[in-house]
Amino acid sequence: MISLDSIELGRQLMTTTSQGTNQTMKFFIDTADINEIKELAATGLVDGVTTNPSLVAKSGRKFLDVVREICEVVPGPVSAEVVATDHATMLKEADKLSAIAENVVVKVPLTVDGLKTCKVLTGRGIKTNVTLCFSPAQALLAAKAGATYISPFVGRLDDVGTDGMQLIADIIAIYSSYAHLETEVLVASVRHPMHVIEAAKMGADVATLPPSLLKQMFNHPLTDKGLAAFLADWAKSGQSIL
Ligand code: E4P
Repeated sequence: MISLDSIELGRQLMTTTSQGTNQTMKFFIDTADINEIKELAATGLVDGVTTNPSLVAKSGRKFLDVVREICEVVPGPVSAEVVATDHATMLKEADKLSAIAENVVVKVPLTVDGLKTCKVLTGRGIKTNVTLCFSPAQALLAAKAGATYISPFVGRLDDVGTDGMQLIADIIAIYSSYAHLETEVLVASVRHPMHVIEAAKMGADVATLPPSLLKQMFNHPLTDKGLAAFLADWAKSGQSIL
């Protein structure tokens, strides 16, 4: 019989394994704009990239070219989404996408065919990102299909009057109950820094952020004010470090 203590121990081990003792939340950027990716990758704070068909259309570029170029700039996981809706064609598209580079993660929608495709790809050792997740039940199915990442869309839930962050809490609670489970929670449709802060407090594995939001996270008016005061005082001292 499993005791309450061993359940708690299992949860702690799961946390240590999935987060890594030194590893904080990973940041992916949610864009297909190569210039923004290059700019932010230069900070050294970008762990990966997510794209979707809308973002690719907005870039005005050819999908396969964009994915190839992103994979050259960012060594971490780069999600590229299939657009077929049936299993057989999804698999063909997945083969083409995953052949682009080793760091391509095939993104599939949370549908029956999407999860069938996820299961096959996982069996072949190809990483997957199950997207358009809006409920804990869907997240449970994605984990059973062996998804590498589950992408719950918090902003789009907030938009329809449902608490997006509660979905993250529910998924983390469910996944934490199973020590063997390796699916990472990738918080998507993130709209403001508080989404990121709340997700980090819950121990979500990844947040994918629009470039403008990642830039926004660096800023605080007191940092600017404080730095201006330090530099003015330093100038008065007449000193130089170099
Ligand atoms: C995630 O992979 C999606 O591309 C993205 O986060 C969707 O965000 P949106 O709801 O702002 O379009």
